[in-house]
Order: sequence, then C-alpha cells, then structure tokens
Amino acid sequence: MEAQLLMDTIEREILANRLRSWILQAGKLIRDKMNDPLTISTKSNPKDLVTEMDKEVEFFFATKIKEFYPNHLLLGEEGYGHNEINKTDTIWIIDPNDGTMNFVNQKQDFAISIGIYHQGIGEIGYIYDVMSNTLYSALRGNGAYKNNAKLPKLKNEPLSVDESIVAFSHRWLMKNNFVNEKSMQQLVKEVRGVRSYGSAALGFARVAEGSLDAYITMRIEPWDIAAGKIIVNEVGGITTDVQGKELKLLERSSVISAHPEVHHTIVKKYLNRAVKRGARK
Ligand code: 2AM
Ligand code: CA
Repeated sequence: MEAQLLMDTIEREILANRLRSWILQAGKLIRDKMNDPLTISTKSNPKDLVTEMDKEVEFFFATKIKEFYPNHLLLGEEGYGHNEINKTDTIWIIDPNDGTMNFVNQKQDFAISIGIYHQGIGEIGYIYDVMSNTLYSALRGNGAYKNNAKLPKLKNEPLSVDESIVAFSHRWLMKNNFVNEKSMQQLVKEVRGVRSYGSAALGFARVAEGSLDAYITMRIEPWDIAAGKIIVNEVGGITTDVQGKELKLLERSSVISAHPEVHHTIVKKYLNRAVKRGARK
C-alpha cells in the first residue's frame, strides 16, 4: 500500500529536472528586469509588499503547471492558485518571491521557493537565491544540494545553544502579539550570534547548509515553509512550530527550523512557554 502513496521515482526525477530549468529561467527573467521601474503595492499592511514581478513569476509557474501537469494543484502566494486544495492531491506550493522587501529595497537576498507535496508528503524542494544564482534543492530520500554540491548531514558534532547562530526578525524582540519578548531577549543573550535575513526561504536554506543553526519566526505562510522544510529535513534538521508540534501543510504557523542538537533545547527553554496562547492568527 505504502508504495502506491509515493510519487513514482522516474516521474519525480523528470518533474524535478523540468522544474529546475523553469526556476533558472524565471530567475534570469527577474535579473534581466531588475533595473526596470517597479510597480509596488501593499497587502495586509504597509510593510507587506508585492510587486508586479512577484505576480509575473507566479503566473509563469501556473502556466507551466497547467500545460505539463493539469492534474496537479497550485497553492501560491499571489492568487494564481486553486481555491479548493485537498492535502491528498499533488500540490505545488509556491512563493514566487520570498523576501519581497529585500527585492524592492536591497535588490538582493530574495528567493523563489517551491515545494511539491504528494499525498501530504514533501517530495521536491527548491529554493533559488536569485541574485547570487544559488540553487538549494532536495528530493525526499536523496539528500540536499547547494548547486551541484551535496550538503553534509548536520548531526556530526555536538552543538550547544551558546555556540549557535540563530536568525529571526527584530520584531519578536519588541512587544508583540505572538511571543513574550523577554524570552526572545534571553535567547539573544545566550546564543553566539543573531542574524536577520528578511527571507524565510533563505533562513531555511542557511540552516540546511549549516551556516545558521536555527531559523525562528512566529508567523509565516505555507509557501514560505514548503520547500525549506523538505530541504532541511534531508540534512537531518528538524522543523516544527515553536511549541515543537508538527506543522500543518496548508496552514499559517510559527516555525523553528534547526540543527537537531539545539532544536529541542531552544523550544523547551525559550519558546514553548513564551508563546502567547490564542495569539492573533
Ligand atoms: P514574503 O517576503 O514572501 O512576504 C520576512 O521576515 C519573512 O517573513 C519573509 O520571508 C516574508 O515573506 C515572510 N512573511 C510571511 N508573512 C509575512 C507578513 N505578514 N509580513 C511580513 N513578512 C511576512
Ligand atoms: Ca512572497
């Protein structure tokens, strides 16, 4: 029975290769248009940005899915996806531009993030750092890659919190609706260093490559998580919500994605009790 639930290996390989070339193509399109005037709008709040480019890139993938995989579904950030999505379908979860503020203000450190889930299981993950032309990828069970180099497993040596570099947004250090800021300040005091990259996908990618030991956020969307979770999983990293519970594929959530040696300690000591119950979703 189990075998029937899995994606066919050859089909998966073909899909992954196609998707790789589409992602590189989309990335080139973005780089070529990088200096054109931008049309920027805001979404949920004045700092929540979206550009015509975000929409164009999602549309590009929506068109490819329709043409090559008409039975597959799309869950996307920018509205070209299907309205009814069932966990048992084959779903492409796409963020065409993760780190839109970086794209607009900094012209670097943004990524295309695509995870493909079949029957609820993450099969293919890609995170493409567009300006540095770095592609992180993973097929479930086959390990993770940074461009053509296989990433080593994370669990080779012991790691303590005071040796760790963690990444999260400054907003969790200020009074907020999601987490007790004092607890986050304590974490800052005890870790070796803190970084804030402004792209969830690149947070996951850096955990996978071992340049970061944990990426933490109190509120992100399925398309920010989908690819990263698959890639981190392939190197032995652990991704849960900040209370240590398994993530739900199609729901907005808090996230900690971390090296297996520090995941449990960070959850238990700093995050679990600090989360505000019933926080605004
Ligand atoms: P985005 O750029 O695709 O919107 C910023 O800290 C990171 O959190 C980005 O990856 C951003 O994704 C993500 N994020 C998700 N929901 C957000 C929200 N409501 N406001 C700001 N950033 C959000
Ligand atoms: Ca986005």
